[in-house]
Amino acid sequence: MVSSAAWSFSRSSSARLSTRTTSFNSHRKWFPSAAASSLSLIAIVFLFSSLVCAFYLFTVWRIPAPDPEFFSGAGQYCDVFAGSWILDDAYPIYNSSECPFAERGFNCLGNGRNDTGYLRWRWKPSSCDIPRFDAREALRRLRGKRIVFVGDSMSRTQWESFICMLMTGVDDKQSVYEVNGNQISKTIGFLGVKFGGFNLSVEFFRSVFLVQQGLPPKQGPRRVRSTLKLDTLDVMNKRWMNSDVLVFNTGHWWTATKLFEIGCYFQFGGLLKLGLPVTAAFKMALETWASWVETSVNTNRTHVFLRTFEPSHWSDSKQKVCEVTDQPASEAIGDDRSEFGDIIREVVGKMRASVTVLNVTLMGKFRSDAHVGTWGYPSSILDCSHWCLPGVPDAWNELLLSSLFTNDWRKFGK
Ligand SMILES: *[C@@H]1O[C@H](CO)[C@@H](O)[C@H](O)[C@H]1NC(C)=O
Ligand SMILES: *[C@@H]1O[C@H](CO)[C@@H](O)[C@H](O)[C@H]1NC(C)=O
Ligand SMILES: *[C@@H]1O[C@H](CO)[C@@H](O)[C@H](O)[C@H]1NC(C)=O
Ligand SMILES: *[C@@H]1O[C@H](CO)[C@@H](O)[C@H](O)[C@H]1NC(C)=O
Ligand SMILES: *[C@@H]1O[C@H](CO)[C@@H](O)[C@H](O)[C@H]1NC(C)=O
Repeated sequence: MVSSAAWSFSRSSSARLSTRTTSFNSHRKWFPSAAASSLSLIAIVFLFSSLVCAFYLFTVWRIPAPDPEFFSGAGQYCDVFAGSWILDDAYPIYNSSECPFAERGFNCLGNGRNDTGYLRWRWKPSSCDIPRFDAREALRRLRGKRIVFVGDSMSRTQWESFICMLMTGVDDKQSVYEVNGNQISKTIGFLGVKFGGFNLSVEFFRSVFLVQQGLPPKQGPRRVRSTLKLDTLDVMNKRWMNSDVLVFNTGHWWTATKLFEIGCYFQFGGLLKLGLPVTAAFKMALETWASWVETSVNTNRTHVFLRTFEPSHWSDSKQKVCEVTDQPASEAIGDDRSEFGDIIREVVGKMRASVTVLNVTLMGKFRSDAHVGTWGYPSSILDCSHWCLPGVPDAWNELLLSSLFTNDWRKFGK
């Protein structure tokens, strides 16, 4: 069930935005826990192949590039994901150079981008307004909460944006810290930031497919070096439970390049599924996720969100060429993997548990001006998938917070 009646604001927006853990080795999850010395040869071979795999992913790391919700006031229903970007001099919300949790690779301004127009756009739903972000008010309502983001680097960006937005309301910046003292990196499996004065925890778990990766069944073809177990959720899932907010995404890694070309194939019910198309596999994985939400998450406490695909703006299919514009596109353009959106709608539509789809696909399609481009780190890598911070992910968080804070039936943070 898509929670639809969740956001109630008046059309004129008079509603105020009243809108630990131990680090782990990112390779560890590749090994079944029972494996021991007798399997050491396999383990070495596997370690090698996963290192090759990791190196490949690291060097060729590139992602092609997702609907919140609906404000309804006085019987009005507002699709907050349908709208446009309008210029607003109150933006951006923060300065990445002053936020220790904005990773260098997303700080376009800090990395030499010299036009600043891209920083000043606010997302405006067509038939209503979302409340303006108010960091102090948001912190007050989030006191004592545990917010968890799970997914790929787009989730990490949203996590970084969320922290940077909230930090603008914190006087003692030193009171905000990563629980293991870790630096943000592309491959890290877990990052947890505590807002000391608010007993608030904002965490990120890297799980690019949401389902578990592992060793292939014995006697499979040699080209099969690892598998994605479509019927098993990432074993990290136990650490995602007992949270107040869970925000998921997946999609960018569901490509032949990131799977078959590095010897990763699908598995279901213990059997290899060599000919299974990526979209069919994506659907099976999402169904596994949906049944996990229904059986393992206490949705009385936990608000579950699923973010849709974030569009990219490459000019070629190989993702080597693109141009970051200095103005948003006048039309919705960009690669949106719309088949994934259709699958999300279908799977979430059948769920009994309430899940809010953050449908950010359309809003991103206008933002050909907001990608990292050559202002990443290192700058030699052109990137029209990821977004600059501050930027588009801030708008996802404004929608997320609006959804939480106007959710009558949960009285979040009241
Ligand atoms: C962001 O912060 C840095 C470091 O404090 C400062 O040099 C820069 O001028 C700021 N940028 C903007 C746009 O305010
Ligand atoms: C902005 O940077 C581009 C290169 O990225 C350069 O060609 C241009 O001259 C710069 N403009 C200004 C006003 O500094
Ligand atoms: C902090 O928040 C957690 C829930 O995240 C709660 O269990 C705990 O009691 C809170 N501690 C304090 C000191 O308020
Ligand atoms: C959730 O709330 C409903 C209604 O208040 C209650 O019947 C149900 O037992 C609760 N479920 C859990 C897991 O607490
Ligand atoms: C997201 O919004 C677009 C545009 O309104 C719509 O076409 C698409 O079906 C929506 N996706 C989901 C998953 O609801």
